[in-house]
Amino acid sequence: MIKPFEKPIYVTRPFLPPLEEFSRGLEEIWGNRWLTNNGPILKRFTQELSNLFDTNNLCLFNNGTLALQIALQGMGISGEVITTPYSFVATTHALFWNKIRPIFVDIEPEFYTLDPKKVEEAITPWTTAILAVHVYGHPCKLEALADIAERHKLRLIYDAAHAFGVRVDHKPISHFGDLSMFSFHSTKLFHSIEGGMLIFREVGLKGLFDYLKNFGFKSEVEVVMPGTNAKMNEMQALMGIQVLKYLNEMILKRAKITNIYRARLKEVPGIRLVPMLSPDIEYNYAYMPIEVDEKEFGMNRDALYERLKEWNVHTRRYFYPLICDYSCYRSISINGDLPVARRVADHILTLPIYDSLELFDVDAICDIIISLHQGKRSKTQVTVPPTELVKIV
Ligand SMILES: Cc1ncc(COP(=O)(O)O)c(C=O)c1O
Repeated sequence: MIKPFEKPIYVTRPFLPPLEEFSRGLEEIWGNRWLTNNGPILKRFTQELSNLFDTNNLCLFNNGTLALQIALQGMGISGEVITTPYSFVATTHALFWNKIRPIFVDIEPEFYTLDPKKVEEAITPWTTAILAVHVYGHPCKLEALADIAERHKLRLIYDAAHAFGVRVDHKPISHFGDLSMFSFHSTKLFHSIEGGMLIFREVGLKGLFDYLKNFGFKSEVEVVMPGTNAKMNEMQALMGIQVLKYLNEMILKRAKITNIYRARLKEVPGIRLVPMLSPDIEYNYAYMPIEVDEKEFGMNRDALYERLKEWNVHTRRYFYPLICDYSCYRSISINGDLPVARRVADHILTLPIYDSLELFDVDAICDIIISLHQGKRSKTQVTVPPTELVKIV
């Protein structure tokens, strides 16, 4: 018998390190009396990330949005940038704050990343860069985009907000493109409460980004450019260091959750799962998107979203609406009709996934979805295989 959850199950829940560990870190901060401006804990965090990502071309920020804005400014991107409408709105905001015109093109239907063919068709004499998103942590079509960027002399920038921990061919995802931005927001798999990181190819950018995030200060008496305030503070860095210790554990737990969802939902009519990623990709299991087909499932995505709430399961329609459909971007240039992005935005639902989600609760969520499909509104009539039969890798 399944019952509505007593406590709400949200789409995500931030990981927190053991309080004693964090308290010990706070004691260190109290001892240092150094709260922000490139403090000792930020330096340690930067070093740990440099080791993990195998690069010194790395810079930390107080959030991912400002990191991306600063990246575009520091790289001198202007004119038009080809980007995806299927992302969190900050991807486009970062362009707009730099007075860059976003050109939205369609996505591919399997993993929802930018469609390289559409990118190439949208290039004009004003195009200076491609801003692609590893949406849900799914790597973009890396080779095809790199090839287009090289042939047309465009900068290739990745919004890797969802892709912390993803590796391709044994290399961190930041190895690809000219620059990658990661978000460490609390809703992300890896977080520092709020935070952002840039990793880039060109060594000279580091100094520039350091000025831009600290008001343009070069020394106590020299301001060399009109920078902003986008520095990461010591509390954020402390959280980042402590969460980082649990990264592999968190990814493993999410993999188990994903496997249950996939095994239980793969044959439910009207539920489409993302295909398996190719074996050269080490995925981070950041999100659990499904597409809902009304005809086959028996209700549309919005109805499922509402019905799940009755069971205290709070999913997200992530990403709906498309960025180009927000009122502030409706007049912006769209290349083509975006049929794939529109279809996906109208059918997508992201299911709860986080490290502290119990596997039996994942099973119960699947039971509810299956029972809603079967039209068995009574909360007692669920006939689905139990988790024990589900192979967990
Ligand atoms: C794809 C994407 N880009 C950018 C951002 C902005 O990052 P932040 O919240 O750290 O500013 C987010 C998430 O919040 C995101 O999901």
